[in-house]
Amino acid sequence: MNKNNLTFDHAAFANYLSSFLVIGHRGAAGLAPENTLPSFRKALDLGCRAIELDVHAVCDAEDTTQLVVIHDDTVQRTTNGKGLVSNHTLEQLTKLDAGDGNHIPRLAEVTALVAKHFADAQPLINIELKGRRTAAPTAKFLQAHPELAVLVSSFDHRELAAFRALDNTTPIAPLFERAQANMLDTASELGASCLNVSQRMVKPVLIEKCSDAGYPVLVYTVNQKLEAQRLKALGVGGVFTDRPDVLMALSGD
Ligand code: G3P
Ligand code: MG
Repeated sequence: MNKNNLTFDHAAFANYLSSFLVIGHRGAAGLAPENTLPSFRKALDLGCRAIELDVHAVCDAEDTTQLVVIHDDTVQRTTNGKGLVSNHTLEQLTKLDAGDGNHIPRLAEVTALVAKHFADAQPLINIELKGRRTAAPTAKFLQAHPELAVLVSSFDHRELAAFRALDNTTPIAPLFERAQANMLDTASELGASCLNVSQRMVKPVLIEKCSDAGYPVLVYTVNQKLEAQRLKALGVGGVFTDRPDVLMALSGD
């Protein structure tokens, strides 16, 4: 936290990367239904100092925009429902079974769980803007919750730029699935705090370039201990994992 106010900023984020960060991907997606409250609880119980989740924006019965935590833009892979997330109201989504009788949580439910779970050490929440038009409601949500430690990321760099235009403090990270020549320019234009990249594009030269430019790199999705050890030795700042139970021993130092 910034000493003068409650704003979580780039400097506060850097503290999370002072040692190797094991980030619970969609909670602990290899151990509980992804992006559900038990999944996030599991990751936190296992000692994750950071969790990752995906958000989509939907309307509720009063036509107010609400952020829901789900990965796909359709509901059939992860719930007993069918169709596009955007064709559902919040109330309809909430009735679906997202695994083991759990519902699709609202972002506010996850942040409340995180706040309740840890009294002292504040876990970092990586909000991935997955759906369209998530930038504005996310910026609004964070404005109302300055106490949260948050990193906002997205593969959709326009959505991320829209978020940055509304919020110039919260750390952000562009996501990359493949190496691109202009990755560092993108990060610089967005005022990013780090780059989040796919495991298959990680090469020593990439980590070196990012590090020389002052950007830590976070890597998704790493479930094997040996691979995480290799990445850690390369200087990667942290990894997203479905199996925090397997990787937690690498956390810290
Ligand atoms: O944010 C890291 C990772 O979650 C990005 O890919 O498809 O799992 O959301 P995906
Ligand atoms: Mg994600």
